[in-house]
Amino acid sequence: MKPLGVAVIGCGAISGVHLKAISANPSAQLLAVVDIDAALAEKTAQQYGSSYYTDHHEMLKRDDIDVVHICTGHYLHAPMAVDALRAGKHVLTEKPMAENKAAAQTILDAAEAHPDVQLGVIFQNRYNPASVIMKKYAESEELGKLICMKGLVTWFRGAGYYATEWKGKWATEGGGVLINQAIHTLDLLSWLGGEVASVKGTISTDSLEGVIEVEDTAHAHLVFENGTTAIFYATNAYRTNSPVEVEMIFEKGKLYLRGDILVLEQNGAQTVLSEPVVNDLGEKSYWGVSHGAQIADFYDHIQAGKPFWLNGPEGYKAFRLVMDIYESSRKGERIVYQEAVPAK
Ligand SMILES: NC(=O)c1ccc[n+]([C@@H]2O[C@H](COP(=O)([O-])OP(=O)(O)OC[C@H]3O[C@@H](n4cnc5c(N)ncnc54)[C@H](O)[C@@H]3O)[C@@H](O)[C@H]2O)c1
Repeated sequence: MKPLGVAVIGCGAISGVHLKAISANPSAQLLAVVDIDAALAEKTAQQYGSSYYTDHHEMLKRDDIDVVHICTGHYLHAPMAVDALRAGKHVLTEKPMAENKAAAQTILDAAEAHPDVQLGVIFQNRYNPASVIMKKYAESEELGKLICMKGLVTWFRGAGYYATEWKGKWATEGGGVLINQAIHTLDLLSWLGGEVASVKGTISTDSLEGVIEVEDTAHAHLVFENGTTAIFYATNAYRTNSPVEVEMIFEKGKLYLRGDILVLEQNGAQTVLSEPVVNDLGEKSYWGVSHGAQIADFYDHIQAGKPFWLNGPEGYKAFRLVMDIYESSRKGERIVYQEAVPAK
């Protein structure tokens, strides 16, 4: 089958992970990169053997480009995704879908209006071997019903990290630790727990007060339609990037994830179910190691003409939770989507 022609918009920090995965994938051929920084675009194009543009509209005119990866700041995801979908390109956008709900809706609407092309949203941690095992237990009821979960993200992002044109501001980043870092763990909790019935949360700026507009710390309590509950804590105010922790308490056992290491605790015995994953894509361990797997899966779905599962509505779930934790914090109220089954 003819390889898909691919372009990447945004040649900043995350782009290398995409570019290496595209270059390693026989189903794809990197044809173009785009960045408003011409020197960066040119250097990236030379490194990966593609042409380059400084305006994505010019790149979108090319007929040989089938798929566009969006790796720019959050406020650019929606307009760029809409432009690309309208131009008849498949779109794989980095998380989050957008910086606010109205912008995210424009992507969902554009995807619906162009069913001939596919929209995928990066949540690579769903592809981690440990996540796949956790999902299997959540669905199989092998350990009985899922009673509750815990998610902890304790990372460090200092003032230097926020010294860019878009990070640390409500208008362009759309939030802080929740929308940028912890959205991955919120996504895992919502994927594992099922449909969320309600959420209550609080945000604060504990360490970078006066430096960033947005929050560096947040906590939340989630209730799922099936009665499962989850507590969640995230901060960028720690002094190091600790492994993310997720705990799942079932009726007949417990799963505990710390980084890549997943442990099953049942009848007093502990079994290690997954070990650290190593890859050569240069992915930072705290970003997860599964971009390559999600990108390959997206291409496979396009080539097979099958709808991609981590699509707009699926990518919207954790994004909606983030937005509603902000709203809950502002109002001091729980945001209710649906009445939950009363917890036993
Ligand atoms: N999935 C993950 O684990 C993960 C990890 C890191 C970042 N990200 C996401 O990746 C995205 C990019 O983050 P980053 O840290 O790489 O940002 P960055 O600021 O390092 O890079 C963004 C790039 O976009 C370019 N740009 C700005 N305006 C442009 C325009 N109009 N046209 C073309 N290029 C333009 C900038 O010049 C810059 O090179 C964000 O959505 C972020 O949340 C995801």
